[in-house]
Amino acid sequence: MSKKTAQVLPAVDSTAVFKENIFNGKVLFCTGGGSGICKGMTEAVVCRTPNEERLDRLTASAEELSVATGKICLAVQGDVRYPAQLREAVAQTIKKFGRIDFVICGAAGNFLAPISGLSENGFRTVIEIDTLGTYNTIKATIEHLRATKGSYIMVSATLHYRGTPYQIHVSAAKAAVDAASAVLAVEEGPHGVRSNVIAPGPIGGTEGVDRLSTASGSDWGLLSPAGRLGDIRDIANATIFLFSDAASYITGQILPVDGGNMHLGTTQ
Ligand code: HXC
Repeated sequence: MSKKTAQVLPAVDSTAVFKENIFNGKVLFCTGGGSGICKGMTEAVVCRTPNEERLDRLTASAEELSVATGKICLAVQGDVRYPAQLREAVAQTIKKFGRIDFVICGAAGNFLAPISGLSENGFRTVIEIDTLGTYNTIKATIEHLRATKGSYIMVSATLHYRGTPYQIHVSAAKAAVDAASAVLAVEEGPHGVRSNVIAPGPIGGTEGVDRLSTASGSDWGLLSPAGRLGDIRDIANATIFLFSDAASYITGQILPVDGGNMHLGTTQ
């Protein structure tokens, strides 16, 4: 099969697909929203990040989003590994907006390392950012989500559905995130809270893909059944769908947004 002759569908702007204003009056709380995929997922947002350099980036992102969307965006510094910092960020959100309807658990750490070159602390660090950070975010927000019958989206990955080299730490961390979302959906469903996972494949222009594709030397866009890399708008569109009432009967699910990459066979 020649992948290069396949028709390539472009990424689309969400405003061309979804109606405007479906989230009017809603408040989104997002970890890791200062850049990359989560920035694209974020509209009205409170984010946290561990250092000053990133706070600058976060504040700039919040201002940019405010101008672009006309929504109020609030940037808050913090680290998802520390529950007290998350509770403070949530308190600031409630003080400013009075409610939280949607939560994106997006903060993640990653680097490439073979098992032989990965220390216990390196493994632990990524587990703490991705998995413990997701748990801490759930704990800090759940009462507010119950109050609004709100919805969670966890940002996972597709690399742990197969054995991706140099990614044992992230693979273990994201598998746990998938599992946590399923439990959350089952436990909190009776309270009107939904939880789903978006599993992005290779998304162009993100730190993760820049690093991984440089290391592997592969052009992931050409290898993809979709014939292109993902676009941050592809993830944003899935986010809008999963938070919208159109997905009100969808919970506990994992939605790969990867152009079909995870189904690629080894002979292709
Ligand atoms: C081996 C490494 C390493 C590397 C760090 N460590 N980088 N080990 N190879 N490249 C080890 C350190 O040696 C240390 O262990 C431990 O990890 C903690 O490192 P610190 O720098 O002290 O941790 P910290 O300051 O908390 O930094 C967190 C981080 C950092 C994850 C290590 O790299 C980071 O914040 N990266 C940016 C975030 C990021 O990558 N976002 C994109 C995510 S994309 P020792 O034993 O020495 O103490 C994503 C999806 C990708 O997740 C999907 C692609 C398809």
